[in-house]
Amino acid sequence: MRPRRTGVGARRRIAGRGPAGPAATRRRAAREAPRSGPTPTAPPTTLVRFRVNGAEVEAAVKPSDRLLDVLRGPLGLTGTKEGCGAGECGACTVLVDGRPVNACLFPALEAEGREVTTIEGLGGPAGELSDVQRAFVECGAIQCGFCSPGMILAATALLAEHPDPTDEQIRDALAGNLCRCTGYVQIVEAVRTAAARRRAAGGTR
Ligand code: FES
Ligand code: FES
Repeated sequence: MRPRRTGVGARRRIAGRGPAGPAATRRRAAREAPRSGPTPTAPPTTLVRFRVNGAEVEAAVKPSDRLLDVLRGPLGLTGTKEGCGAGECGACTVLVDGRPVNACLFPALEAEGREVTTIEGLGGPAGELSDVQRAFVECGAIQCGFCSPGMILAATALLAEHPDPTDEQIRDALAGNLCRCTGYVQIVEAVRTAAARRRAAGGTR
């Protein structure tokens, strides 16, 4: 007696090895024909010049590049983090002309002629921490640290505008920055501490 074929085996045989009719021949010819149409080309780039942490920089950017891509990519400033990539978490916060922005939403082309500050630009020339950075460390406002660069930049922008902020102003200023670790209490305390010290020092850091 001949062995029975299983259904799967039979289907494979029919699909893969059956005699090629005119329709199958046309399909195969279409698959094997060279593709016509325009050859794909690389998107155009534009040379953008701006300042980062006080230094002149330039970068060739594509229309779709975000400021975050340029900072973390060609400029190597990886202190700026990418969390959600959608403007929700604030991990990518940098200052553009002194104002906090989400670098994941900011088109790199729009950086032309602007002053960008990242976490790498806050400390002193010998690597000293800024007053806000010090206060974050001392108050336990940094745990895993992923949110910290964005938090610290947002807090820095706040103190530049409001040297003596209320807790509500601090919470408002940091509302776009999410932290999964600290519960925010230590972060608010750190900003308050930095503000008090700065006022006591006559406004200097
Ligand atoms: Fe930009 Fe989350 S990575 S807001
Ligand atoms: Fe971990 Fe804020 S310290 S997310």
